[in-house]
Amino acid sequence: MTLNVLFVAAESEPFVKIGGLGDVAGALPGAIRHISLKSEDLPPVDIRMVLPYHFAIKQKDIKTEHLGDFSVPSHKGSVPCQVYRYDGGNFPVYFLDGAPIDEKSPVYSLEPANDGDKYVFFSLAALRLPGFLDWHVDILHANDWHTATAIYALKTRPLPSAHLAHTKALHNLHNLPFMGYGIQQALTDYGLPPSDNDILPEWARHAPLPLGLLHADKIVAVSPHYAEEILTPEFGCGLENFLKQRKSALTGILNGLDTTTWDPETDPLITQTFSTQTLARRVENKTDLQRKFNLPEDENLPLLTLISRMDPQKGIDIALRGLAYCEDLPWQAIILGTGTPYVEDMALELEANYPQRVRSVIDFDNKLAHQLYAGADMFLMPSRYEPCGLSQMIAMRYGCVPIARATGGLVDTIHHVSRSVNGGTGFLFLKPYPSVFASTLKRAIHRFHHPEDWRQIQLNGMQQDFSWENSARKYVELYVRLRNKN
Ligand code: GLC
Repeated sequence: MTLNVLFVAAESEPFVKIGGLGDVAGALPGAIRHISLKSEDLPPVDIRMVLPYHFAIKQKDIKTEHLGDFSVPSHKGSVPCQVYRYDGGNFPVYFLDGAPIDEKSPVYSLEPANDGDKYVFFSLAALRLPGFLDWHVDILHANDWHTATAIYALKTRPLPSAHLAHTKALHNLHNLPFMGYGIQQALTDYGLPPSDNDILPEWARHAPLPLGLLHADKIVAVSPHYAEEILTPEFGCGLENFLKQRKSALTGILNGLDTTTWDPETDPLITQTFSTQTLARRVENKTDLQRKFNLPEDENLPLLTLISRMDPQKGIDIALRGLAYCEDLPWQAIILGTGTPYVEDMALELEANYPQRVRSVIDFDNKLAHQLYAGADMFLMPSRYEPCGLSQMIAMRYGCVPIARATGGLVDTIHHVSRSVNGGTGFLFLKPYPSVFASTLKRAIHRFHHPEDWRQIQLNGMQQDFSWENSARKYVELYVRLRNKN
């Protein structure tokens, strides 16, 4: 029997992408549909995605059809919602519009409080969509805080229609610290009082993310290791004790990678394509970068790269400080990213201090990112926390060996190289301190000078299967278990 899934998110490729959620929402629903249709042991999944009709999407001039309108009740009167359908993909996508999804507002404001009205309206409107479409929903799949309100309303308010009578809720957790704190007023305006359940700490009873986590039938963190880490004070953001009580509902499923876009064998943005069979060609990409950035052209000098949003989460400061500890060793580095001004300044300062070997590009440059993955020897990923992470997977697929903090999805995707290479694909360090990063980098540089070992590490990484298929199958199996549960 077909399994009906309503996938609700704030952002998704190719319509609008701000962060990692956009990559996942852009790939996972299609992968779920695909695997369900081709596997005889799985039911076909009719997955439909709902997104806010953000101004950024309207500007793209995507062809949509206006299906009609309904309204969402609130204490201030009912708020009209317009439904649009996009049919250009492998599954239907609905865009919901209305006054709270206002033209001037970006997908995310700096202050969640400014986004409260938009995402509470959107979450509640999404729950009215099945009735409007006359489509029964088995699974509501919500993502992060923005759509957690849909779960809270589904489980605590009268149902807007019988189409939700048997709906189970899955809460996909991409980033715990972003809880949507401060939108209490919007929840109240739409008739959603704070929870009185005392397994939640008091401060969390009116924030959408904890409310979703409280009521979800299943919580899925985006990696198994992150699912464990959030039960500890270091990563639990004050919810660790509450999450421990929800442990039986909590699991982790690793995200995948779009292996078509990210394929060193066919990538049109890189100078020289290569594969495991032709790894020797890769050096041309490195020389090209050295030339382009006016760095000494030497293939025996390890070229390091760091490509990241410059956000405190990403721990870029840890690597930048750590690099200075390694000034006695030979290396070059190209840093690419934009974000928090003090981190940008640190990157520029490092270049000023080491003009012979560091280049910092404060920009978002997709083409350069591809070239760096394809040409650099090592990829620095010093994240303070990393629910899953995507760039370490890209780096490994491109033969660029990750030096990463042992946290979250980095632990699940990178096999640490210890004394012998074995199946190792990268180097992990435990504590988020510059000195710890530096000693791991030193070990990696030492290994780099054993070319046979290095080549093996690269090949191990390139041979990992990061495709979405594995994860999509796990989600469908979970949907089936949820549907069968009473
Ligand atoms: C968030 C997390 C990142 C994860 C992504 C997609 O951006 O910070 O680790 O890969 O969500 O799940």
